[in-house]
Amino acid sequence: MTEHLKALLAERSEPVRLTVGNLKGGTGKSTTAVEIALTLARFSDLPVMLVDADSINGTTFEWSELAGEEWPSEINVHYWPSINLAKRVRDSGHTGHLVIDTGPGDAGILRQALSVTDYLVTPITASPAEAVRIKPTLEAAAEIGVSHPLELSVLFTRVKPNTVSLREAKEAIANVGLDVLPTDVPFVLLYSQAFGTVPDDLGVFPQVLTEILEGGDDE
Ligand SMILES: Nc1ncnc2c1ncn2[C@@H]1O[C@H](COP(=O)(O)OP(=O)(O)O)[C@@H](O)[C@H]1O
Ligand SMILES: [Mg+2]
Repeated sequence: MTEHLKALLAERSEPVRLTVGNLKGGTGKSTTAVEIALTLARFSDLPVMLVDADSINGTTFEWSELAGEEWPSEINVHYWPSINLAKRVRDSGHTGHLVIDTGPGDAGILRQALSVTDYLVTPITASPAEAVRIKPTLEAAAEIGVSHPLELSVLFTRVKPNTVSLREAKEAIANVGLDVLPTDVPFVLLYSQAFGTVPDDLGVFPQVLTEILEGGDDE
């Protein structure tokens, strides 16, 4: 698997530009954004820009600050929760991978992020209401999807496997016609305790990134 993701990233002609977004809070967005940025840094030679665009929490930026010396030098972190986010990204001249973590409630910033990225990963938790609550996020994606292609993936996070609520939530999402990534992120300390650190074990995230990049083409 490790070699597979390395090859997948090396073969690409374009860097990975990805937004982690769900206008609902507390769904595992920041954890997903940081773990994906760490995965990109570990599996690819290109530099990574990680942007925290959450005007309320700043979790991603705090995470990297707390990690201090441990934080990989190939990942540049910026706190840009501003309405001119897209311009700042463009003006940065960065040509490597880009991961943008967005916050709850701010559709304007989410649209800015989507306008400079090619993938939207939407972490959701296993509650039946999520399928309804994801709507504003999808509307923002649909607006941006008109001007450039945007690959959408739904990622179940903080999952307790084999529960009725997980099964029902997945059915509800499938009924809306959305692609759910085959791999879920389980509810375990490995992820909650990762905050402020650079974990050796990236858990399911290398697999999750592989699935995001491989998208709909069945392989
Ligand atoms: N897979 C997981 N297992 C256990 N706890 C998690 C997991 N993912 C996130 N958490 C915890 O859940 C809380 C919300 O996660 P966070 O990534 O900050 O979500 P968001 O950015 O959507 O608000 C944090 O305390 C985080 O440590
Ligand atoms: Mg967050």
